Amino acid sequence: MFCQLDGAGPLYQQVYRALRTDILSRRLPPGTRLPSTRALAADLGVSRNVAMLAYEQLLGEGYTQARTGSGTIVAPSLPEQWAAAGGGASLRFAAPAPRTPPRLARAGTRAIAIARRTRLHWDLRGAPLAYDFRFGRPAFADFPHALWCRLLGRRARSARRSDLDYGAPEGRIELREALAERLRRFRGIETTARQIVVVNGSQQALDLVTRVLIDPGDRVLIEDPHYLGARWVFAAGGAELVPAPVDADGMHIPPPRAARRSPRLAYVTPSHQFPTGVVLPLARRLELLDWAARCDAFVLEDDYDSEYRYAGRPLQALAGLDVDGRVLYLGTFSKLMFPALRLGYLVVPEVLVESIVAAKALADTGSAGLEQLALADFIREGHFERHLNRSRVRNAVRRSVLLEALREQFGERAEVSGAATGLHVLVWLRGRDGEPIASVARKAEAAGVGVYAVAPYYLEPPRRTGVLLGYGPLSERQIRQGIRRLAAALG
Ligand SMILES: Cc1ncc(COP(=O)(O)O)c(C=O)c1O
Repeated sequence: MFCQLDGAGPLYQQVYRALRTDILSRRLPPGTRLPSTRALAADLGVSRNVAMLAYEQLLGEGYTQARTGSGTIVAPSLPEQWAAAGGGASLRFAAPAPRTPPRLARAGTRAIAIARRTRLHWDLRGAPLAYDFRFGRPAFADFPHALWCRLLGRRARSARRSDLDYGAPEGRIELREALAERLRRFRGIETTARQIVVVNGSQQALDLVTRVLIDPGDRVLIEDPHYLGARWVFAAGGAELVPAPVDADGMHIPPPRAARRSPRLAYVTPSHQFPTGVVLPLARRLELLDWAARCDAFVLEDDYDSEYRYAGRPLQALAGLDVDGRVLYLGTFSKLMFPALRLGYLVVPEVLVESIVAAKALADTGSAGLEQLALADFIREGHFERHLNRSRVRNAVRRSVLLEALREQFGERAEVSGAATGLHVLVWLRGRDGEPIASVARKAEAAGVGVYAVAPYYLEPPRRTGVLLGYGPLSERQIRQGIRRLAAALG
């Protein structure tokens, strides 16, 4: 009998693990009779109860069998591959290395190809920088965290059975009604809860829309430059991307190409173009809607951060101008609250409700219920609007500190785009054309400053050197010092 205890966790688990190791390493071969629990307990200096519990677990998991009259034996038919390589006290269930790559469906192959070419994750990796102008992040410290915990706790404590059960795939009615009312009041979108589908962030909405509207080989009109999260999903769905160049007035629809099928979908960020920040004027919005009607296409409006508008009221959404039922409107709480919430919503034209809800049901049967209820309370009790108003003021201060610092430190050497809205600006660095952006980013990083090249967001990258600077999570002091250090590092 070997039975080496490893000293970790409850005693009966140690005895169970030790016996299991001996069985798997064939030190106790199939058919071996195990000692009685009394004998084992005496041998190991543990109580009989501990030995009995360990034996019960081995029996329950099929490592042993009970034989009337002859006690417990090691199961005679343990599969060969269960044997641990080399034996010893600790078990290694290492999967054998696959000799050939697995046979994937075309969608799986496309997903892998994209992941290998790009960076398919949004989380922070690498050592943190003291002055990180990473975009796409809200001001985490401005969020009323204690209040949110109270609302979440209240919903959790008072949860009825139905709150803990599966919910409707389209989301909790309380949240959809709160959203419909808010969209009518603040975004000029006449909608009802029936047309709203709650999703796990914009990313899921992009995926659902692609599944429902795009077949491999279909064309998707996409702003150039654009949000990579959208490009990747369309590409993974096998779409052919048609770039629509963005100028100072936003996206410009390219003329139709003879003998080419027209796109089935256009993806746009009209209220704060990502990443350039320009706003699509009314004339081009109408032109886009007209194009969609002529081509029998849909338009996906991604309104990710336009509620942070620093002059005047937020612009009316494109969906508010849509009389034809062509626009799917996409909202997220990632920038207005925090990204880990993973909640967003789609406002879907009546004709697409059934298919989008079906796709959502197939994807995950619905988003997390208690968070949806707490969010509905957050909106209906006025906390959301108060939080937005407060953070709009704070972000406006960060933004003007950034613009002032850029003016002071760079003067004519920096041209700023898209500062009227949102949480980032695009800065074109004059006089550096031709310098690889990697060299600019490396110099900045050596000074503790994180800046992000705009070029990867283009299908057809520009000659100019542009960097994105996000300012949401930074303090005014960090912004000032970061820009000072950046200017010094770039010389
Ligand atoms: C254009 C755009 N859309 C959507 C999102 C948000 O995505 P999600 O709701 O999946 O967090 C971002 C975040 O950076 C974005 O830049």
